[in-house]
Amino acid sequence: MAHGFPMKEQIPAIQSEALAQIAAAADERTLEEVRVGVLGKKGTLTLAAAGMKDVPKEDKAEVGQLLNAARSAIATALETKQAALQELADLAALAGIDVTLPARPLATGALHPLTQIRDEAIAILRRMGFALADGPEIEDEFHCFDALNTPADHPARNEKDTFYFDSGKLLRTHTSSVQIRTMESAKPPVRIIAPGSAYRRDEIDATHLSVFNQLEGLYVGTDVSLPDLKGTLEYFFHELFGPETEVRFRPHFFPFTEPSFEIDVKLTVKGQAPRWIEVAGCGMVDPAVFESINQTRKDKAFDPETVTGFAFGMGLDRLAMIRWGIKDIRLLIENDVRFLKQFA
Ligand code: DAH
Repeated sequence: MAHGFPMKEQIPAIQSEALAQIAAAADERTLEEVRVGVLGKKGTLTLAAAGMKDVPKEDKAEVGQLLNAARSAIATALETKQAALQELADLAALAGIDVTLPARPLATGALHPLTQIRDEAIAILRRMGFALADGPEIEDEFHCFDALNTPADHPARNEKDTFYFDSGKLLRTHTSSVQIRTMESAKPPVRIIAPGSAYRRDEIDATHLSVFNQLEGLYVGTDVSLPDLKGTLEYFFHELFGPETEVRFRPHFFPFTEPSFEIDVKLTVKGQAPRWIEVAGCGMVDPAVFESINQTRKDKAFDPETVTGFAFGMGLDRLAMIRWGIKDIRLLIENDVRFLKQFA
């Protein structure tokens, strides 16, 4: 009996039929149908393979080889066709897209102009040996005024000018309170800067807000002189605004310094006559401030006979307005992206 014979013909027939179907498949779904139709549980080749058990012993090897050959030829053809169809699909998906175009720029953030000018000011002063110090924004009258030699009837202490809480505490009207907080806990030499917010009940307009930013400085030691103060601040403004910037010290009054000055820098705005603009207050620390500190400390660490010092306070908002020619201080707090973008 030629039992193996039909199988020997059947298998190559299944194989060539399958290869023809694979070649004809135009999409991945059709190809999958072909695969299932041939190699699936009830596929033609699977069913044929089930007939192996009836093949006479002497034909088993040959039929087995035919089966294996068919299976692998079909699998290879399926794989190749699958890859080809995938590539066609990819090309279709990309049709009309130029993948060599540069990517769209990502919208990145940037530092606020106030942050930029503050960081620059800090960097310059740190190079000169000033360390960062800090103090609370909710202050008491002692640190904001009394210890700074500011008498009870001084206009700065008026409720019309200062935000008071019911508790009697207040929103600090200047960063000068950090001078006091620092000297209470450190001994000379003291060389600190304290950037931070200050609050006043000002009428809001193009140059005033009820919250603004200051940077306080204090240098106390055994030989600190007025030339040190002038040299330090002249250097500072030259670094910040350029070496050609003119700086002048105008005699003024502050309760906590004697003598006191206001500092102006000469501004040259394109198309405008150069003008002086006030940027800071400064002076030599008043001995009365040291006396008050010693009383609080209950020692003589800041003996006005042996230590001297200078202090300064500048408006950071004003510095930013000068640096970039910003005409309205309110722009600094409105967070309008069209404005802020210019500083990115
Ligand atoms: N605290 C003053 C103000 O807010 C500025 C100031 C003036 C600070 C003189 C100082 C100084 O340290 O010595 O107007």
